[in-house]
Amino acid sequence: MTQSTLVATDVSKTYDGVQALNGVSVELGLGTILGLIGPNGSGKTTFLNCISGVTKPSGGLVRVDDVDTTGAPPYRVARLGVARTFQTVRLFTTLTVQENVEVGLVGTSRSKTGWRTRAGAANRILKEFQLSGLAGRLASTLPYGLQRRVEIARAVASDPRYLLLDEPAAGMNDQESDELLGLLGQVARTKARGLLVIDHDLRLIMRLCDRIHVLNRGETLASGDPASVRADKRVVDAYLGASAGAAPSAPGVADREGAAE
Ligand SMILES: Nc1ncnc2c1ncn2[C@@H]1O[C@H](COP(=O)(O)OP(=O)(O)OP(=O)(O)O)[C@@H](O)[C@H]1O
Ligand SMILES: [Mg+2]
Repeated sequence: MTQSTLVATDVSKTYDGVQALNGVSVELGLGTILGLIGPNGSGKTTFLNCISGVTKPSGGLVRVDDVDTTGAPPYRVARLGVARTFQTVRLFTTLTVQENVEVGLVGTSRSKTGWRTRAGAANRILKEFQLSGLAGRLASTLPYGLQRRVEIARAVASDPRYLLLDEPAAGMNDQESDELLGLLGQVARTKARGLLVIDHDLRLIMRLCDRIHVLNRGETLASGDPASVRADKRVVDAYLGASAGAAPSAPGVADREGAAE
C-alpha cells in the first residue's frame, strides 16, 4: 500500500567541511502541521532545501509517498506534489497579485481546461487568502506581510499535497501573524495537506503545529508536541531561553538559501 507521507531519513549536508546538517529525520503526514525551529544557522533552511530538491543532501534518504526523491531536481519533487516558499519573498514583481496566483496554477489540471476555469480557480484562491480586493495590484507595491501571503497563495494554487514554508511570518506584526495562523490551519486541515513550517515566531509555531522538531547546530535536539518541546530543558537552554521572541535571521544566510552548487 502506498504511504501518503513525506519522509526524510538521516539527512546530512556538508558544505566545504562545514556540517550544516547531521542525520536529521522527520515524517510529514497529510492533514498535519510540523514546525521546524532552532537558532540562526541551525540548518532549518538547508533541511528544507534538501527535501525540496534545491540542495542535494550529502547523505540520507528522502521519499515522497514512497517515491525516492533523494537528490532529485526541484521540478521532479514539485511534480510529486511538493510546493515551497523561500525565506526571502520571491514574487514576480512586474505581475499583478492575480497573475502571480495564476502562475501557480500553470501545470495543474485546472490550467488545462481553459481560461474561464483558470480565472475561476485563481479567484477562489484569492478569496480564500483575502486578497480579492488586491487582485489587480502589482505584487511589488504591496506591503511585505501581504507579499508573503500572495506567495503562499501562489504555492497553494499549484495544488500541493505537501507545502513547505520557510519563515512565512517573517516581517509580520501580531495581527498579520494571527491571520496567517488561521489561513494555514485551514489549508492543512480542510484540504488534508501536510505543512512544514519554519519560523522564529514561536507564538505562531506553538499554536499552529501538531508537532515540533528542534534543530541545533545541524542536529535534532528534540521532537514532540508543542507542550513537551516548550518544557524541554535542552530546548530552553539552546533556543527558547535566548530567543523566545522573534529572533532575526542572520544576515547573509537568506541570500544563500537557493545558491547553485
Ligand atoms: N550554500 C551554502 N554554502 C555554505 N554554507 C552554507 C550554505 N547554506 C547554508 N550554509 C551554512 O549551513 C548552516 C545552516 O544554515 P541554514 O541557512 O540552513 O540555517 P537556518 O537554520 O535556516 O538559519 P536562519 O534561522 O538564520 O535562517 C550555517 O552554518 C550556514 O552558514
Ligand atoms: Mg533559514
